[in-house]
Amino acid sequence: PETPPPENEPVRAYAPGSEDRRSVQERLRELRNQTVEIPAFVGGTPVYPGSTSEVVPPHDHQHTLGEVHQSGKATVDDAIDAAMEAKAEWAAMDFSDRAAIFLRAADLIAGPYRDTLNAATMLGQGKSIHQAEIDAACELIDFLRFNVHYAEQIYRDQPNDSQGIWNQMQYRPLEGFVLAVTPFNFTAIQGNLPTAPALMGNTVLWKPASRSVYSAFFFYKILEEAGLPPGVINMLPADDGAAVGTPALQSEHFAGLHFTGSVGTFDHLWSTIGDNLDTYRTYPTIVGETGGKDFIVAHPSAHVEQLATAVVRGSFEYQGQKCSAASRLYMPESIWPDVRREITSQLDEVTVGPPEDFTNFLNAVIDQRAFDKIVGYIERAREADDAEIVYGGDYDDSTGYFIEPTIIRAHAPKETTMCEEIFGPVTTVYVYPDEEFASTLPLVDETSPYGLTGSIFARDRAAIKLASDVLEQAAGNFYINDKPTGAVVGEQPFGGARRSGTNDKAGSAYNLMRWVSPRAIKENL
Ligand code: SER
Repeated sequence: PETPPPENEPVRAYAPGSEDRRSVQERLRELRNQTVEIPAFVGGTPVYPGSTSEVVPPHDHQHTLGEVHQSGKATVDDAIDAAMEAKAEWAAMDFSDRAAIFLRAADLIAGPYRDTLNAATMLGQGKSIHQAEIDAACELIDFLRFNVHYAEQIYRDQPNDSQGIWNQMQYRPLEGFVLAVTPFNFTAIQGNLPTAPALMGNTVLWKPASRSVYSAFFFYKILEEAGLPPGVINMLPADDGAAVGTPALQSEHFAGLHFTGSVGTFDHLWSTIGDNLDTYRTYPTIVGETGGKDFIVAHPSAHVEQLATAVVRGSFEYQGQKCSAASRLYMPESIWPDVRREITSQLDEVTVGPPEDFTNFLNAVIDQRAFDKIVGYIERAREADDAEIVYGGDYDDSTGYFIEPTIIRAHAPKETTMCEEIFGPVTTVYVYPDEEFASTLPLVDETSPYGLTGSIFARDRAAIKLASDVLEQAAGNFYINDKPTGAVVGEQPFGGARRSGTNDKAGSAYNLMRWVSPRAIKENL
């Protein structure tokens, strides 16, 4: 039976003095004062493969939140066996029974475990309460509920019968297991990548990012409590991704990759799959989302305050560590002084600090490597002739990896920070002469190899139309008078092409279709 389309999970405000705020603060304190032991989970059983590493909060690198057991080849081989063993029964289960497990998980997150997942995301991944709430609570719940709705649409889609002939499309799971490799920056994506293929009847090996194993662990426990059978999703933590990737991609049973992460890792996995093609029973499905160099283009007719707010939120929320974050801005000369003044006055109000202090708008970047890379770009801009720092530029890693929101002005449209993905609280602006709006658009298109998100700000309809046409291939998610971040499941299916990925739109039927291998059946009656 058809269930009604879900509604998006309402975002809670956590206002000062509210019960919601007190409750999540209490959970933050509890988690901070305990050390969690995080095993691998193979066939539903915790395994402790040997060496361990520590979970460290990005804003307080002297503190330890947990210990993570590192998966190795033997763990992965066991996980493949477990996934293959669980597969027949899982795939044969009625869809509504599979779906019920993920819907129950969504309800558990919406209710009793909301504080836990939010607090784990705040502590482990350095998110403010609002950034955690829209991710680890709302978007994750939405993925789980909307995927069920989209899967029902897929299964319902059947061919015509004709005189004396019965036809059916059977939406088989892939023949083998799916490897889900998930990123640190969204607890929601981390949850979606293993559960979407599982919902369609596949069994999964799941390698969470080493920097977010903490929230991954709590999510896994929720799936277990929701009734996920052993072996359907096997969680394999490893600081060294190759420890999981290499044996998984060498297996004859490998049938699909669901990936979000860096271009370098995705390219490497893709070539490894290519090299191993002879090993597999079937051409594997490859779905991946990688980076972005996402733009905001403003036309002289743009609304200044609206634009400035979009720059601040789009560039700096979650320290710019969203693949959708704005990181190159094209501003017309006539309005730039006003836009800059408005951005400056907004940024002067925000503070950078630990997420336990709810007044901080920015927290720390994820780790030392990210910190060093971002600081390298800031220092380069400080020295370079073709760039200058026009806001921020300070940083401090003595207790946590804190970097001020920083704006670079590029004096050439293809200056380094206009082109390269920085993945931090740094955005670069190029100011163009107003009359060059039309010739700036092709420049926006050709400056980056990515194609994820982008925005046009204008009140002039012709300018909007022109930008939309010229930038047709430049962004899989294109925003008119809005920031390029914050796609909502059920409203803006998310993903991009070019070097940003396979554009299989997370949280949509397009994505779920990739996890089935349809069989057309005809019977003469
Ligand atoms: N879906 C997120 C956003 O739109 C990025 O992954 O910001």
